[in-house]
Amino acid sequence: MMMVPRIFSFLQFSTLLYLFIVTSASTEEATALLKWKTTLLNQNHSLLASWTLSTDACRDWYGVKCLNGRVNKLNITNGSVIGTLYDFPFSSIPFLEFVDLSMNQLSGTIPPEIGKLTNLVYLDLSVNNLFSGSIPITLGDLTELKILYLYHNQLSGPIPSELGSLKNLSDLELSNNRPITW
Ligand SMILES: *[C@@H]1O[C@H](CO)[C@@H](O)[C@H](O)[C@H]1NC(C)=O
Ligand SMILES: *[C@@H]1O[C@H](CO)[C@@H](O)[C@H](O)[C@H]1NC(C)=O
Ligand SMILES: *[C@@H]1O[C@H](CO)[C@@H](O)[C@H](O)[C@H]1NC(C)=O
Ligand SMILES: *[C@@H]1O[C@H](CO)[C@@H](O)[C@H](O)[C@H]1NC(C)=O
Repeated sequence: MMMVPRIFSFLQFSTLLYLFIVTSASTEEATALLKWKTTLLNQNHSLLASWTLSTDACRDWYGVKCLNGRVNKLNITNGSVIGTLYDFPFSSIPFLEFVDLSMNQLSGTIPPEIGKLTNLVYLDLSVNNLFSGSIPITLGDLTELKILYLYHNQLSGPIPSELGSLKNLSDLELSNNRPITW
């Protein structure tokens, strides 16, 4: 007699738990991206005005697209973004597949933590003119990577041999940097 309601409440509880987990996952991603936004120099004048805590990152944020409630694409090409990737939430958006940050004014080195974005298929950091330092060897951990554009920056040093193990890489553009060598 008591079994039916008990099963029902278990199902309801599971559904609630599921909704809570899915919702809180993308809230965590949004919070992490907002933290990066606060480090950008022109955060108040850029296209990122739609990035706020009170809006839905998946639906309302400029340049953000989600898949199953998780951030899947970040495209702020030509978005007048001035800053660095030092506080980019590499550990907090694990389902990111497409990143296009080309044609901005991002500077500094490309952090080795970029290798944590293991679902990346597309990475475009080209035409920021200012990225410097070496090409991180951890890019070799991005086994799904098909497209890698780093051209028109100030990168220098050797091209990591680890890139050679990226089986799916079909388009690699490194031109117009400082002298880079194999
Ligand atoms: C941007 O706006 C926020 C809130 O209005 C303010 O706290 C912050 O200091 C501003 N940042 C810059 C760089 O102007
Ligand atoms: C990013 O958006 C631009 C147009 O705003 C588009 O041309 C480009 O293909 C997009 N990149 C990706 C990876 O979707
Ligand atoms: C970049 O954006 C500016 C306006 O903000 C526009 O005039 C320009 O054509 C854009 N460039 C490209 C290559 O999309
Ligand atoms: C590479 O691409 C193929 C076909 O799109 C896919 O099946 C595979 O999982 C991808 N990743 C690796 C590491 O080969």
